[in-house]
Amino acid sequence: MPHHLDLPQGFRWGASTAAYQIEGAVDEDGRGSSVWDVFAARPGAVRDGHTGAVACDHYHRWPEDIALMQGLGLDGYRFSLAWPRIRPTGTGPVNEAGIAFYDRLVDGLLAAGITPLPTLFHWDLPQALEDGGGWLDRDTAYRFAEYAAVAADRLGDRVPAWITLNEPFVHMVYGYALGIHAPGRALMLDALPAAHHQLLGHGLAAAALRERGLQVMIANNLTPVRPATDDPADVEAATAYDALHNRLFTDPLLLGRYPDLSAFGLTEDLGGVVRPGDLKLISAPGLDGLGVNYYNPTRIAAPADPALPFTEAPIEGVPRTAFDWPVVPDGLRELLVGLRDRYGAALPPITITENGCSVADAPAADGTVDDPDRISYLAGHLDAVAAAVAEGVDVRGYYTWSLLDNFEWAEGYHQRFGLVHVDFETQVRTPKASYAWYRDLIAAHRASPGR
Ligand code: GAL
Repeated sequence: MPHHLDLPQGFRWGASTAAYQIEGAVDEDGRGSSVWDVFAARPGAVRDGHTGAVACDHYHRWPEDIALMQGLGLDGYRFSLAWPRIRPTGTGPVNEAGIAFYDRLVDGLLAAGITPLPTLFHWDLPQALEDGGGWLDRDTAYRFAEYAAVAADRLGDRVPAWITLNEPFVHMVYGYALGIHAPGRALMLDALPAAHHQLLGHGLAAAALRERGLQVMIANNLTPVRPATDDPADVEAATAYDALHNRLFTDPLLLGRYPDLSAFGLTEDLGGVVRPGDLKLISAPGLDGLGVNYYNPTRIAAPADPALPFTEAPIEGVPRTAFDWPVVPDGLRELLVGLRDRYGAALPPITITENGCSVADAPAADGTVDDPDRISYLAGHLDAVAAAVAEGVDVRGYYTWSLLDNFEWAEGYHQRFGLVHVDFETQVRTPKASYAWYRDLIAAHRASPGR
């Protein structure tokens, strides 16, 4: 019996990927170098020295991958465009061969009845721009808008809705504050300009997309923040963490102002980084959708180290993924209802743009891949989405992370998030049990939607 979900008619079903995680072909057809090529080549940066040089070889195998999507019955496919394929140095001439790849992909998706939902920036900045300061440099925001305009001019006749950025929080923290991801800078709070410049890039790119009559979304990594105890020091720390993780990237978009970051010693203009007019641009009306990427809630306690106003506390007594992330489906309901309560009428319709889990999947002797933990993760989180919808939150779609096992950033090929198993030696794709489960769930929902 397929899982029954009380979700509206027309609810959109999808799956997500990102360019550097699946494409490979890093030296083909004039693609420029990205921060991830350079970072992954650094000894010790990625587990076991893995890189995205081949990844899932999607650059060549995309027709097979579209067939897999079609087999699922997807309404939409979220992928990202590699900026260094389209404008290899970030500033110079447009690379027609790079655009041609996305042309083929978009046409292939449309022929399969699948709506393309591209993300313009999923962390693979052209290295040439990083050499000039990357997202710490205000100019990068303007270069981003130029690239967005090029992409929209070439693909906008067939692609109605666009996601500007993927997870500016994770990119700032992992890439610029802690140095765990590319570009590998460990600047701690001096990474904050990367937040504002990404948001400014969003605002400028959004204007370019809107001028061309296209819809604009952004995909944020959001987490419900729970204080470790009701001790006021833990509650205060949780408020500070919530401001950094959630509000810093959502308040400027929806409310036109930065949250109170005084716990981090920061002023409202982020130490002079915010210029007059920036927030007006970032919060320009007409954000067509907020993409929510959810994996787990966060538990926060009073600081153990005076350098930061919070400490992360473990979440005990729940199942954990292969990545050791806690599995708390109701955190997604809590997050969605919390967004509605916080932003009210300012909140645009929500699409879940990522949700999924890593499982240590391996084919059995008969070649099948049984992943009951993923099925239970997805079922629990979809129930949480339905519960939020029942509480009145406007959620329009769900894109699972991920279609394929892929290059999981600093973890290389060690964390498998796919509905489809990929053998990275042979590139053989094997749909897992969760693939069949998701396919049946989509079909059952279409046959009898809940509301
Ligand atoms: C997100 C990211 C994805 C994927 C996923 C699983 O933060 O956008 O690219 O890696 O996490 O870790």
